[in-house]
Amino acid sequence: MHATSRNIVTNQPGPHQDLARRVERALRHPLRKPIADHTRVAFEQADAWLQGAAGAPLILDAGCGVGLSTRRLASRFPDHRVIGVDRSADRLSRDHGELPGNALLVRADLVDFWRLALAAGWQPARHYLLYPNPYPKSAHLKTRWHGHAIFPVIVALGGRLELRSNWRLYVEEFALALEQATGEKAVVEAHDPGTDCLTPFEQKYHASGQSLWRLAVTLSHAPGLVPVASNEEG
Ligand SMILES: C[S@@+](CC[C@H](N)C(=O)[O-])C[C@H]1O[C@@H](n2cnc3c(N)ncnc32)[C@H](O)[C@@H]1O
Repeated sequence: MHATSRNIVTNQPGPHQDLARRVERALRHPLRKPIADHTRVAFEQADAWLQGAAGAPLILDAGCGVGLSTRRLASRFPDHRVIGVDRSADRLSRDHGELPGNALLVRADLVDFWRLALAAGWQPARHYLLYPNPYPKSAHLKTRWHGHAIFPVIVALGGRLELRSNWRLYVEEFALALEQATGEKAVVEAHDPGTDCLTPFEQKYHASGQSLWRLAVTLSHAPGLVPVASNEEG
């Protein structure tokens, strides 16, 4: 298959100079954005579904798009429950075949969903961030997951966290942020999916001849990493 995905264009020559400050800020200052009602409802439904398989290990597919990776992970890990989360109703509604019984697709904003998951004590065995929106302009650091105030929550959930991107710098910055937050050194490596692409974006970038990058790290469940607002204490 031939595809012509555009290469990432960035005005950053290396890791963002503000990254460490952003991560420090996220580790110190609680995220005060209220949780949207629709994500609360969606989370409660997902939580009930998960409780229906008490004891089954959980896989989170964060930003699952059309949910192909959710389906594939569910087939690959039949004894796990796989939850794909995306905020795009349009993407989630596209027909990509029957959903395996151990998979669930949820429309929700991850910034809220992750916080609810941590508060509910979820401990994913595996957590995938597959080709997140790169936001390659320097001014958009805050919108990359490692530059966002939600970053400590992503890390605190724990489990085997895997990030893939066609932008090496995104993965390198994520690794730096992880090391700052946990002391864990994650290795950034080239990823060759061969004929076994996990997601449509992976497929498209690979078919365009772009290099792909990944990191995988096993993290402890560490809710204490997330700062708590003083008026929520006690
Ligand atoms: C570049 S696409 C990748 C989709 C899929 N993982 C793939 O590789 O084909 C990024 C996805 O993240 C989703 N997304 C971005 N920010 C989100 C958020 N705050 N909450 C939920 N989904 C989000 C988008 O809707 C989009 O489907």
